Amino acid sequence: MPKVLVIYYSRSGNTELMAKRISDAIRDEKLDVTCKKVEETDPDELLEIDGLVIGSPTYYGTMAAEIKKFLDDSIKHHGKLDGKVGAAFSSAASMGQETTVLSILEALLIHGMIIQGDTKGHHYGVTSLGKPKENDLQRCKRFGQRFAKLVKQIYIS
Ligand SMILES: Cc1cc2nc3c(=O)[nH]c(=O)nc-3n(C[C@H](O)[C@H](O)[C@H](O)COP(=O)(O)O)c2cc1C
Repeated sequence: MPKVLVIYYSRSGNTELMAKRISDAIRDEKLDVTCKKVEETDPDELLEIDGLVIGSPTYYGTMAAEIKKFLDDSIKHHGKLDGKVGAAFSSAASMGQETTVLSILEALLIHGMIIQGDTKGHHYGVTSLGKPKENDLQRCKRFGQRFAKLVKQIYIS
């Protein structure tokens, strides 16, 4: 069964709510998913997975320092994530979520990961403003479902 890691940083719980709904959607697609805080995640865990989803609050238009540190520490496994599936999501108060998502995706692309866009709505990765509302969580569900389907396709092929 393909393994997925969903990691996030969250001070006030908004990104965490998104991470949990995304993880639930991936689990409903019958994938083995672990959802955890970035502070509790060791870069060595990246060696075990087929898919990686990273979530961050938007801090001054980019990812939180804790997520950046994790990505910088992931250099020890540079080359080993090549061909695995990646995705990113973000929460913000008012603006900057897309640049946050793109900054995370840049790192995942440099790791050689496969990223799927979305023709509808949130093209780069799911985002939400403030505490996620039910429609935001529905978008998280769709995002998780699409991610899981891609991981399964890549895993089987
Ligand atoms: C240091 C800092 C910088 C922030 N910068 C932005 C920003 O540039 N744009 C924005 O819309 N919100 C900004 N925010 C608000 C957070 O992105 C927002 O409250 C988010 O929902 C917090 O997520 P969390 O509950 O997972 O911690 C900032 C918050 C902090 C603490």
